[in-house]
Amino acid sequence: MKILGISAHYHDSAAALVIDGVPVCAVQEERLSRHKGDAAFPLLAIEWCLQRAGIEPDALDAVVFYERPMLKFDRILTCALRAFPHSWRTFPQAMRNSLGEKVWIRGIISSHLGVPGRKILFTEHHQSHAAVAFLTAPTHRAAILTTDAVGEWATLSVGHGERLPNGTTTIRSLREIRFPHSLGMLYSTFTAYLGFKVNEDEYKVMGLAAFGRPTLLEQVRKLIHRTPDGGFALDLDYFEFHTTAERCYSSRFIELFGAPRNPYEPIDFEAAEGQRFADCAASVQRVLEDTLVGMARTLHQETGLPDLCLGGGVALNGVVNTRILAESGFERVFVPPAPGDAGCAMGAALYADRIHFGNPDRDVPDHPFWGPPVDGSELARLAREDGQFVEEFEEGALVNRIADDLAAGRVVGWMDGALELGPRALGHRSILAAPHTAEMRDRLNHEIKYREPFRPFAPVVPIEVADRYFDLPPGGTRLARFMSGVFPVRREWQSRLQAITHVDGTARLQALEPEMAPRLHALLEAYWRRGGMPVLLNTSFNLAGEPIVNRAVEGYSTFLRCGIDVLVAGQTRVMKRASPTAKPKEEIACSRGVAGPDAD
Ligand SMILES: [Fe+2]
Repeated sequence: MKILGISAHYHDSAAALVIDGVPVCAVQEERLSRHKGDAAFPLLAIEWCLQRAGIEPDALDAVVFYERPMLKFDRILTCALRAFPHSWRTFPQAMRNSLGEKVWIRGIISSHLGVPGRKILFTEHHQSHAAVAFLTAPTHRAAILTTDAVGEWATLSVGHGERLPNGTTTIRSLREIRFPHSLGMLYSTFTAYLGFKVNEDEYKVMGLAAFGRPTLLEQVRKLIHRTPDGGFALDLDYFEFHTTAERCYSSRFIELFGAPRNPYEPIDFEAAEGQRFADCAASVQRVLEDTLVGMARTLHQETGLPDLCLGGGVALNGVVNTRILAESGFERVFVPPAPGDAGCAMGAALYADRIHFGNPDRDVPDHPFWGPPVDGSELARLAREDGQFVEEFEEGALVNRIADDLAAGRVVGWMDGALELGPRALGHRSILAAPHTAEMRDRLNHEIKYREPFRPFAPVVPIEVADRYFDLPPGGTRLARFMSGVFPVRREWQSRLQAITHVDGTARLQALEPEMAPRLHALLEAYWRRGGMPVLLNTSFNLAGEPIVNRAVEGYSTFLRCGIDVLVAGQTRVMKRASPTAKPKEEIACSRGVAGPDAD
């Protein structure tokens, strides 16, 4: 059975194709259209998926949309009526969006793909989140907790899933919390207040939180209180997101927290104002953590299950996930590589396959690489036409050459195999660098990523030796598989891992299994043999405001426009002219007295 899943029209559209119960490919529209967070109907993504599988639309058995447009329309209409007359300005806009795109989605799909209306199905938004979280995790029974800003009505839902020995699958929701009471919207309100982009920059709030202290806890707790049934409710007097599209917070919010941050002014931690913003971030982060840890603990007691699957955009908050693992009682916590709305395309298709059609249970490969493959020969052609220095290597020789580059302090743009689904570079579209010095972090911030200096960079380390450098609790390596947790860098290594150690001594590491990305794993080992340690700085291969690169041409264009020294795609290595060749002092210092893999 061939099922296409689609997410669209909110943010981060995507398509995914499931054939005979197993995903075969998936890609976000932004990676193909090159518009970051592209919310358009994902025509390019659909076209690529069908082409990849070699099928025409009429071969599809079903096309599944990741939410129920009428329920969403119902929510928008109800909120607008409740908020009237305050909503009179925004209602026509919401109506246009809903009527034009969401409500008539069946017609849009039918006309674009030429599939009959009877083949078009809908899942509930949180069912899609729950399905991708549970059905892609290597577990047969688990509790499921999904949290996001909002879908139709649900903003948080708890339930459980089971893959039974007879091949049937169940995913049940126990209860949900409904809009406008939303942890995602609470966090997004602070994201807006702190001068960042809603639905895009929430991770900056998490990064900023480490610079502050939760001195404003009392104030944040005025915005949200726990209800006797174990849920929570927002005090809506402090918010406006439910009545207008213009602003998330109300004047009462400003009375409580002070003037919002001007997005164009840098944050100065030496100034009282800068510290206030960091304290705000730390306080809302703490409240988010405490609320979700409490709810996960209740879910654990209620289900008695050892495994928990997390879904929804809030599951990208690694600090929350790590506290849930440590404090809720669950032994294993699974977060898919795309817990947000892009992953819903795959979730919707899997949900339809297992639940709607009742097809037999199948294992889903446990990796994030569902997108287009990169073509090294395309890079070689482009770079040669430009008169660049191009070399093509055998596999082992390439890895060794790149390890030399990294040990010499060069920054490497690394493209390998199929593109990741989700916001994280997990080894196929990465910018790699030596992780040792603060200068390298600053260089990446200034010359390559052009981003705020307070944001941390992440490390990648072979799973076999991850706990040597990082303080991982039981279950920590699973969370670190897709960079979904934040863990302390061991004190004795912090001075040699300055570029990836956040101000609070932690890192959002990726613990890499050799089978998942063999070439990057081999590179980590080759780098280790050069006398350093098997840890590299790994940041997504994109510039600020752009989506992660997909094809060789985008990698090459990014390479030309920033301070990356070396670009790799497939077997091809391109070296930028006038790159540094001298080995920096710090790398030489690190090379002394550290055992390589052969000696360990
Ligand atoms: Fe969502």
